[in-house]
Amino acid sequence: MREMPSCARVTRQHALQQMSLDFPVEKKTPSRMHAKKKIEELEAEPKGICRAETKKTVRSFYSQPVCVSLTPRSPRKSPCKNPLSLNGSSSSPKKKRGLKSSTDEPDENVVSIVEKRQLPLQLCKPDVSAYDSVKVALHSSVGAPLIGREMEISFLHDFISENLRKKNSASLYVSGPPGTGKTASINHILENFKDDLPAHKAILINCMAVKNVSSVYFHIAKGLDGAFPCQKGEKETITWIENKITCSRNPILLVLDEVDQLSSRRQEILYRIFQWPLLPSSRLILIGVANALDLTDRMLPWLQGCVAARPQLFHFKSYSKDQILDILRARLDQAGDSQNVFHPLALRFLASKIAGRAGDIRMALDVCRRAVNLAEAKAKEQLVLQPVSNGKGQCQKLPLKEIGIREVSSLYDEATGSSVANLISGSSHEMPLQQKLAVATLLLITKGTKSKETTISKWHEVFRRVCDKRSVEGVSPSEFVHLVSLLDSHGILALKKKKDVRLSLASLRLDEGEVENARNHFMKLLKDDLLKPTAIAAIETLLYYMEHDQ
Ligand SMILES: Nc1ncnc2c1ncn2[C@@H]1O[C@H](COP(=O)(O)OP(=O)(O)OP(=O)(O)O)[C@@H](O)[C@H]1O
Ligand SMILES: [Mg+2]
Repeated sequence: MREMPSCARVTRQHALQQMSLDFPVEKKTPSRMHAKKKIEELEAEPKGICRAETKKTVRSFYSQPVCVSLTPRSPRKSPCKNPLSLNGSSSSPKKKRGLKSSTDEPDENVVSIVEKRQLPLQLCKPDVSAYDSVKVALHSSVGAPLIGREMEISFLHDFISENLRKKNSASLYVSGPPGTGKTASINHILENFKDDLPAHKAILINCMAVKNVSSVYFHIAKGLDGAFPCQKGEKETITWIENKITCSRNPILLVLDEVDQLSSRRQEILYRIFQWPLLPSSRLILIGVANALDLTDRMLPWLQGCVAARPQLFHFKSYSKDQILDILRARLDQAGDSQNVFHPLALRFLASKIAGRAGDIRMALDVCRRAVNLAEAKAKEQLVLQPVSNGKGQCQKLPLKEIGIREVSSLYDEATGSSVANLISGSSHEMPLQQKLAVATLLLITKGTKSKETTISKWHEVFRRVCDKRSVEGVSPSEFVHLVSLLDSHGILALKKKKDVRLSLASLRLDEGEVENARNHFMKLLKDDLLKPTAIAAIETLLYYMEHDQ
């Protein structure tokens, strides 16, 4: 069969357009009469090569099936060899559907394309279920294998088992920055010793949870004997405990977590407890845990004078970048994070940031959890146009967007207080004036003091004085507690909550440099005249206080 001229291998529609034929382009089986008429019209016009070819095209178009492409202007890679056949080189689905193949055998590729195109699209909510297990695994209170604390656990284990075996009394003070796994390690060890120590011989008390410092005796007595009557007085309780630890045949393990909370003006409670192991025939193994490296030196200087009374010291170092990364990865693995919720670089970035800042794994876990919460909330708001699988009306599962460095970085800034400076200084007045003043008051209270925390009642007292001085409206104690909880929700504060909320300890999540920045920002606000006169007056007062230490 004669090869069809290339010019003829254009689409029917295209050919007709090019030839300016006023022929209905959708019409697929035009009548021969009409075709003849068109050819006659063409013949009446001046002749040319293309005109002749066009005539042939039109003839062939009307006389027999044509090889038609639906994309006329793009060069055909594999031209249709047999213009009468639709098999082989042609793959246009439309052609398949519109014109019957000479062999009637379906081309699989074409069919699959056709099927894909036919899959209905639907606006679907992305499947965010993968976030659930990740959030649980990242929760810092969830029991997880302790990574990178082998040496510390081994030391604590040896200390306890050695003294248990020898039935010795002993005391140990464990220090370490926040979130370095002290409590988690102690819990892990107590779990290991569960079989060796009957329940009433191992007592763990979180001193933060005791209502007032002297009630710690009652908690210890209750730990030693669950039936201990609660109406007994302090002195009676102390005598009862001392009898118990000196008359017991078996050693008693007493762990006081956050032991610095028992600090009082004359440290009577701490002295008494740390001297219990020295009582004649005492069976007490005492472990005190807190953050300060020098707590025993600072709070219990008298103990240092007596070698026997001096507790052994052990320090938990901050986590390194690699340890933090290992812990985070282990948590994600534990959640079966097959979808890689976090980009690996985001985790690495966070680990190095946290390691450079006291290695608090709790903060790393918090930042990750907040990032997941945000990602989940964002994903839930989105609707994605996606194919519906197998006509069952169910959306196909699409991979979730990975949490990247940007998200993690801004949440880290928020958690560490870099955003505090922004909130305080922001010319956009994002933070209400009273909150700004409250933050500034806390800066003022903690200026020049070693401890960067204060009770809410003291904070409120200073805040009230600042407000009174320059006729700025103050707030009642209950309103102030509410204001504090708002600041807490900004991630600006670190709050150590107590049962009596006014005794809760608050500190700003700012490091030294940031504190300085925050002060400078107040100066800038003053100069830029961004605030109303009353506010400026209040800030002036604050600056005065800051300069003159009240
Ligand atoms: N090595 C670790 N591997 C896995 N998780 C850890 C590890 N260390 C700490 N964590 C997790 O971090 C959380 C905080 O740790 P933990 O409470 O033990 O810190 P801490 O040193 O007692 O802090 P603080 O001084 O504030 O009491 C724990 O709940 C624990 O789940
Ligand atoms: Mg702890």
